[in-house]
Amino acid sequence: MMSQEKNDELSRVGAGTAGGNLLRQYWLPAALTEELEADRPVVPVTLLGERLALYRNNEGQLVLTERHCPHRGADMCFGRIEDGGLRCPFHGWKFDETGQCTNQPAEPDESKMHKSIKMKTYPVQEVNGIVFAFMGEGEPPALPDFDCFKAPDTHVFSFKGLWECNWLQALEVGIDPAHASYLHRFLQDEDPRESYGKQFRDTAADTDIPMTKVLREFDRPEIRVEETDYGLRIISLREIGDDKMHVRLTNQVFPCAITIPMSSEMTITQWHVPIDDENCYWFSMFTSFGKPVDKQKMREQRLKEHTLPDYAPTRNKRNNYGYNREEQQNLTWTGMGLDINVHDQWACESMGAIQDRTNEHLGTTDKAIIQHRRKLQKAMKVVASGQDFNALPMYVSAEQAATIKGPIAIDAITSVENWENQWQDSDAIRRKECEWDAEF
Ligand code: FES
Ligand SMILES: [Fe+2]
Repeated sequence: MMSQEKNDELSRVGAGTAGGNLLRQYWLPAALTEELEADRPVVPVTLLGERLALYRNNEGQLVLTERHCPHRGADMCFGRIEDGGLRCPFHGWKFDETGQCTNQPAEPDESKMHKSIKMKTYPVQEVNGIVFAFMGEGEPPALPDFDCFKAPDTHVFSFKGLWECNWLQALEVGIDPAHASYLHRFLQDEDPRESYGKQFRDTAADTDIPMTKVLREFDRPEIRVEETDYGLRIISLREIGDDKMHVRLTNQVFPCAITIPMSSEMTITQWHVPIDDENCYWFSMFTSFGKPVDKQKMREQRLKEHTLPDYAPTRNKRNNYGYNREEQQNLTWTGMGLDINVHDQWACESMGAIQDRTNEHLGTTDKAIIQHRRKLQKAMKVVASGQDFNALPMYVSAEQAATIKGPIAIDAITSVENWENQWQDSDAIRRKECEWDAEF
């Protein structure tokens, strides 16, 4: 069990909090590129409790700035994008890409007041459909040489979804390998050929055994957790008979992401990004090692379950997540439909806006969660003590970032005896056949 003080420290993200100060030192997904192409050219973004506005100026440069005009606080998300900046519709003050006020048309001609008015802006960069923001101090760390970043745009599909809960409980479901055998249990196996774009519905590695069957029938995985240069590697082992081991490799990417296998050809890298203390977005990059991603199909699948512009799930706490008693008896463990994202959403949101960890009882299956919380606390101390940010996990230079690879996320079938070497072989084979992974 945890003290209230420690729970607050781990979960709260506002400016000046220990958690907020730590998360601000990393690149965080702020928006999808597709949001900038929608009807509203200045996109409202709330990140770590700060209300911001994101737009692309006439030169094509992305700008992330404060949302409220420093004059009298009007909403810049309704601003006019003009040559050299963004103009507030209320009294016409104009700001350039650095946030500097350059024009106050209602003030006298000789006024120099605009020179002292500057809005806060944050560095942004766009990678494979996601706009990342850095809200911290000093030089931002470099992004590692992960598969999701180096794969070409054709092989990555990005999407996001709103969860009405604190970011940490949202992340923690992703580093808890035991829940997949329960929360995501399917009582019947569907045809794996129908599995495109869905998680846990393919066959297990190169067998013809459906993943749904593996998870259902082998529901007490042995879990191992290893420290890595990006965070934690989590290995779940299931002996499935005939001298076969099912090895599932998932990862915690410090501080707020996971990389997990989705199907035999795709992985998911998913960030859990705080909007504020009680809401978060998951941002995912689905990366294909095989064929180019069918983005249209994957987007349509997800838009059936989400409404725009907020990317809010259609199944949510206001409609009991579509819970159906018959379905719970005959088809799914939760009775909440076939989309496993909804199961995870229910698990996280049902804990309350911020999980009360003073009342939890962690078991052996929670070892990655325990280790990750320790790492977070240690890193918060580094930031609080004003030590060099380079002492933080994943706070790397471009040179170091180029050595941080993967992370390997795969479902493999190996022998029981030799699993430790053989899962690596399965990954190597996949990379050898991958058209964009030049290193193999
Ligand atoms: S409130 Fe923006 S110009 Fe007046
Ligand atoms: Fe899950």
